[in-house]
Amino acid sequence: MTREVVELIEPRAGGRYIDATAGGGGHSEALLEAIVADADGGFLSVLSLDADSKAVERVRSRLERFGNRSVVVHSNFRDLQAVAAVQQFSQVDGIVFDLGFSSDQLHDAARGFSMAASGSLDMRFDTSQELTAASLINELDEEELANLIYEYGEEHKSRRIARAIVRNRPVETAQALADLIASSVGRREKIHPATRTFQALRIAVNRELDSLREVLPQAVSLLRPGGRLVVISFHSLEDRIVKQFLQTEARDCICPPEALVCQCGHKATVRILTRRPWQPSADEVAANSRSRSAKLRAAERL
Ligand SMILES: C[S@@+](CC[C@H](N)C(=O)[O-])C[C@H]1O[C@@H](n2cnc3c(N)ncnc32)[C@H](O)[C@@H]1O
Repeated sequence: MTREVVELIEPRAGGRYIDATAGGGGHSEALLEAIVADADGGFLSVLSLDADSKAVERVRSRLERFGNRSVVVHSNFRDLQAVAAVQQFSQVDGIVFDLGFSSDQLHDAARGFSMAASGSLDMRFDTSQELTAASLINELDEEELANLIYEYGEEHKSRRIARAIVRNRPVETAQALADLIASSVGRREKIHPATRTFQALRIAVNRELDSLREVLPQAVSLLRPGGRLVVISFHSLEDRIVKQFLQTEARDCICPPEALVCQCGHKATVRILTRRPWQPSADEVAANSRSRSAKLRAAERL
């Protein structure tokens, strides 16, 4: 949804922007290009972050031509405020999050994100962290595994899946896990029966929901008045966090409904720009079927 991101962020010369999930560098590049097309300010304008060091290398080389107007940092976005301070990006005009995993990660068999991958069950965005999907699959007890698959995968067959995994340990590869789940629960839906379990493992390995909850208030506080926040999510758990956060931040009072007089003193910090989430165009879904579940929400700092 690069076109929508640029339309909402409205990059301008002299503005400063953060791409918190650089991935393949598409959004960072589009922001830099939009500013160049306007007028070349010649100073640092886009700070790009990714937790994946391979992505950081690729994005650095993709953005090399923008010289010192771009800086790419290897970091988890849960540390956004600290990274922004070091890079002197303390008041910015726009921040974009495009959550989840990239096509580069999906297609790298060694990373274990794809159900067809013959590589090890890894699923880490940041390969310097210790926890992998293999450690969860092979070390959690059956109940912990079932709860994880239920909570992060919204998978109703989580108990049956956890039992099959525990009986067949060790499970070494992504493909072996996908086949094991298919044989334990059967194939009755359009999606592969392991899809929700893979989502759950990825979320748990990368602490995706915690990082998102931690970063949203930091992002709002980094925006200058009129600055814009754009978040693209890919599943309902993420989208719910973004939606509830923005709804709360857009209200002056967040006291419980039974309170007769406001006691919280909360003041709205944002104005929501997308009353309903934006979804990708039919053309984009046709070109990239993974985009079909994308939901974009945006807000402006008051
Ligand atoms: C969907 S891709 C982004 C694609 C990108 N917008 C583009 O145009 O190519 C998501 C990226 O976010 C990164 N990521 C996910 N969670 C992260 C986090 N907590 N901190 C930093 N990067 C994260 C992943 O490593 C991945 O490269």
